Amino acid sequence: MSLLTVNQEKCERDGICAEVCPAAIIEFKDKDAFPTLVHGGDKLCIKCGHCVAVCPHGAMSHVIMKPEECPPVKEDWLFGPEQVEHFMRYRRSIRNYKKKQVEQEVLTKLINVARFAPSGHNRQPVKWLVINERDEVQRMAGFVIDWMRHLIKEDSPLVAAMNLNRVVAFWEGGNDPICRNAPHIIITYAHKDDGTAPTACTIALTYLELAASSFDLGACWAGYFNAAATFWPPMQKELGFPEGNISFGAMMVGYPKFKYQRLPLRKDAAIIWR
Ligand SMILES: Cc1cc2nc3c(=O)[nH]c(=O)nc-3n(C[C@H](O)[C@H](O)[C@H](O)COP(=O)(O)O)c2cc1C
Repeated sequence: MSLLTVNQEKCERDGICAEVCPAAIIEFKDKDAFPTLVHGGDKLCIKCGHCVAVCPHGAMSHVIMKPEECPPVKEDWLFGPEQVEHFMRYRRSIRNYKKKQVEQEVLTKLINVARFAPSGHNRQPVKWLVINERDEVQRMAGFVIDWMRHLIKEDSPLVAAMNLNRVVAFWEGGNDPICRNAPHIIITYAHKDDGTAPTACTIALTYLELAASSFDLGACWAGYFNAAATFWPPMQKELGFPEGNISFGAMMVGYPKFKYQRLPLRKDAAIIWR
């Protein structure tokens, strides 16, 4: 079966599909021809769906993506720059959570927004691990503390860099500086040899953090958690990723206890114009 099917009744031969194709694998053999794949194009296609999504006539169909399966863009749902700025600046790292589980259905919807994040070559390497029970989150936080105690014993330079003595003392005082008593931790993981994975996992969690507030959820990067998941073998064993896979990011998620009233300030952008 061919990778692309062109509905010749709808196709206007405007060439847009070929212009947007990132792999340059769509060609028009002559001015009256319909678009076709270049020789060997099926192996070069990155399955991004741009040819289907850009066609104003709904004429292009990909073997894994028919136009009728791709939702139409709702122009009136798109934000203007002021709304986007407000939305992006409204995102906060949430460190205080209600003692309430988030329904699995809601977490699934949140991940289903985040999975549309971009990835190099559209490889979509990101996989998800959800630590779903608060007790299990706390147990995992205990592994992070074990790692920190190990670093303190070894006199690691990370102790000063990450204030680990203070973090451990805080934990020993009955607080949770690792997961902030969040009911859930969402981890992105992927195969360790996939060069696109670190960036893709970071962007996917960035999407997830931004999307969280639309579900009335709060989120916060779990940097200590991810560092231990990356460097502490006992924790990796507990997380139990499939062979060859490692963690590339972790995020706390839960219902926020407080509502922020203002947008805090940040440094001015340092920009070099050339
Ligand atoms: C990679 C990364 C790791 C982070 N790790 C933690 C963490 O382990 N615990 C925490 O409370 N906040 C963590 N944060 C949140 C930052 O402290 C926060 O983004 C920063 O203070 C700015 O606040 P804002 O996100 O509300 O704008 C992390 C942020 C990033 C980007």
